[in-house]
Amino acid sequence: MEQLIDRVAVVTGAASGIGRGLAHAFADAGMRVVVADVDAAGAASVAAELAAAGHEAVSHRVDVTDPGSIAALAQAAVDAFGAVHLLANNAGVMPVGPLAEASEHDWTWTFDVNVRGVVRCVQAFLPHLSASAPAHIVNTASMAGLAPRVKANLGVYSTSKAAVVVYSEVLRAELATSGIGVSVLCPGPVSTRIWESERNRPAHLGETRSVSAPERASAGLDPLEVGRMVVEAVRHDRPYIFTNAGSKARIDGRIAGLQEALGIVES
Ligand SMILES: NC(=O)c1ccc[n+]([C@@H]2O[C@H](COP(=O)([O-])OP(=O)(O)OC[C@H]3O[C@@H](n4cnc5c(N)ncnc54)[C@H](O)[C@@H]3O)[C@@H](O)[C@H]2O)c1
Repeated sequence: MEQLIDRVAVVTGAASGIGRGLAHAFADAGMRVVVADVDAAGAASVAAELAAAGHEAVSHRVDVTDPGSIAALAQAAVDAFGAVHLLANNAGVMPVGPLAEASEHDWTWTFDVNVRGVVRCVQAFLPHLSASAPAHIVNTASMAGLAPRVKANLGVYSTSKAAVVVYSEVLRAELATSGIGVSVLCPGPVSTRIWESERNRPAHLGETRSVSAPERASAGLDPLEVGRMVVEAVRHDRPYIFTNAGSKARIDGRIAGLQEALGIVES
């Protein structure tokens, strides 16, 4: 989608971090933005920042685990701006701990937000995106979904992000002739509140845990920079969006392991 001026973007998880960076970058590119998040006050504050900078923006509370809430978001976006051209499925959570200790609730919460949340939003917004094509979908996965840090205690999260990568690849192929592009965003470390994800765990899905962030968490990229990278990728309809210089080495390592295994089959 080359032309972004006056087009409409809906961003989930936009009250904080990468979502806030996406909202700013889309607005800076001339788009009208719906800032959506389960944190209603945070979303309103980001929309106010955009309005103060002279952009058109509204906020809306959405819980991506709730289909009714997502339907209301789609309606609110159409009511506010008349159409939707870009959907950024960015809301995400990251429980921390070894796989052997992961609870049923950890799996339910993580997959309900990170995977099924993306799927639900795509289903709800597809009719609107089709009606206003050319349009675009950006799904936020992670480098964790392509080349996980296997000793980082992020197994549940990484498994969910692998699902988002594959879902996005298949969706892109299936929508190839529809005028709707699909990109999967695979960031490395970005300085956000992701290590404080437990703040968003619903009470019925278990006790919240205290998590201490590793040093690399505060040494990540600026989310606003990630937003600018995504704008460029949307304009050029890129399938994958990498953000950090270290990503190539991680993917090379994964491919080397796969090629070694293939070599055994072929010899
Ligand atoms: N920060 C990183 O290093 C990094 C790296 C790779 C991928 N990501 C991904 O980027 C995305 C954004 O995360 P972030 O790093 O900006 O963290 P963040 O915690 O700063 O932002 C996540 C946002 O998602 C919202 N959210 C959580 N549950 C929700 C729900 N049920 N419905 C609607 N909104 C909900 C939160 O309120 C929050 O505003 C996530 O999908 C995350 O997995 C982050």
